[in-house]
Amino acid sequence: MNILSIETSCDETAISIMKVSGGIKKPSFSILANNVSSQIDIHKEFGGVFPAVAKREHTKAIFPLTIKTLKEAKIYSENKKIIPLDKKVCKKIREICSHEQELAESLIEILPTIKKPKIDYIAITTGPGLEPALWVGINFAKAIALAFDIPLIPTNHMEGHVLSSLFKEKKVAKGFGVQTLNKVSFPALAVLISGGHTELVIMRDFLKYKKIGQTRDDAIGEAFDKVARILDIPYPGGPEISKLAKEHRKSGLNDEINFPRPMIHSQDFDFSFSGLKTAVLYYSQKVDKTKDEIKKAIARAFEDAATDVIVHKTYKAVVKYKITTVVVGGGVAANTHIKEKLTEKLKPLKTNILFPRKDLSTDNALMIGIAGYFQSLKNKKGANLNKVRANGNWSL
Ligand code: KG4
Ligand code: ZN
Repeated sequence: MNILSIETSCDETAISIMKVSGGIKKPSFSILANNVSSQIDIHKEFGGVFPAVAKREHTKAIFPLTIKTLKEAKIYSENKKIIPLDKKVCKKIREICSHEQELAESLIEILPTIKKPKIDYIAITTGPGLEPALWVGINFAKAIALAFDIPLIPTNHMEGHVLSSLFKEKKVAKGFGVQTLNKVSFPALAVLISGGHTELVIMRDFLKYKKIGQTRDDAIGEAFDKVARILDIPYPGGPEISKLAKEHRKSGLNDEINFPRPMIHSQDFDFSFSGLKTAVLYYSQKVDKTKDEIKKAIARAFEDAATDVIVHKTYKAVVKYKITTVVVGGGVAANTHIKEKLTEKLKPLKTNILFPRKDLSTDNALMIGIAGYFQSLKNKKGANLNKVRANGNWSL
């Protein structure tokens, strides 16, 4: 079956079309088209993701990007005879997209020119994420689901991040033919480390998740970004902090700064990164942070502290729950230091550990396509459009 998937939970408008089969036990897929339109350059000016700007940019990008994706997937064709949409459908589209009026009008004008594409399901990220950003994708997906009469599958962003580590190395591209996913043995542990989340989630099986820990304040990626801002590094600062930390380690200098490792010895699996960020702030006020060497030392000490906490808590959860596979997801999964330290620590336990490839660690629509496929297997008819809304819950 063909799945069109749409992701707008933060600052990427992402659309993909996959041909999927095999069920939950042996899923296989081919990528017909995959596009991401990033807003990072726009948000850079604000030093972070600004929800109203994210909403505006998603609203501009989503329909043209969908048409481009349909064309690339070769399932786009134009109607020879244009029959305007039924009046009731127009009214409903205007209602659904009442906060995106321009989008509603362009849908009403352009949809009658497009033949119903060969799509079996539309998978849409409904949360968690920035609400104004999520709603653009949700409303757009509802409108096209209604106009083309295609079932809509609400899909969880975090479940997407879990599944993104199952895509095999290198082969995640259009034109690679039929691909399969990495195998997972259960119980598995998902370590979700992104700009919005820091969570440990036990997976007894696909679609069976239980959150055992989460951050009580800042997410780890948010801490990376805030530390970057303290050091006058533009958003998103995670990759640059990591680069500076690496240079410091390479230079052979000692790790003379010792930042706190919040909650590292707490009995639970929760995290806290706000105190660590504050420690960086206080330290940087006492030194000349414009000096390259000092910047590097701070970046390294921060990354070491954040890494220690993630590695320690993951290890503890793996032992306690007799985990056989660890899957790491989210933007911070691209961090090479965390990758190395986590792999090293879990080695004696012989736990299988999977990381997403770099382009799939950040937000994308392929992960939503696979998550949507799994969900569609238990929800064949799709959701009642009137009931689809932004929804941050995900512990299932
Ligand atoms: O998953 P993602 O694209 O968006 C959310 O769902 O939050 O994650 C973005 C986050 C940003 O905070 C960014 O700074 C961080 O991932 N990030 C990194 C690295 N690459 C991206 N953090 C540390 N090291 C990296 N190499
Ligand atoms: Zn994400």
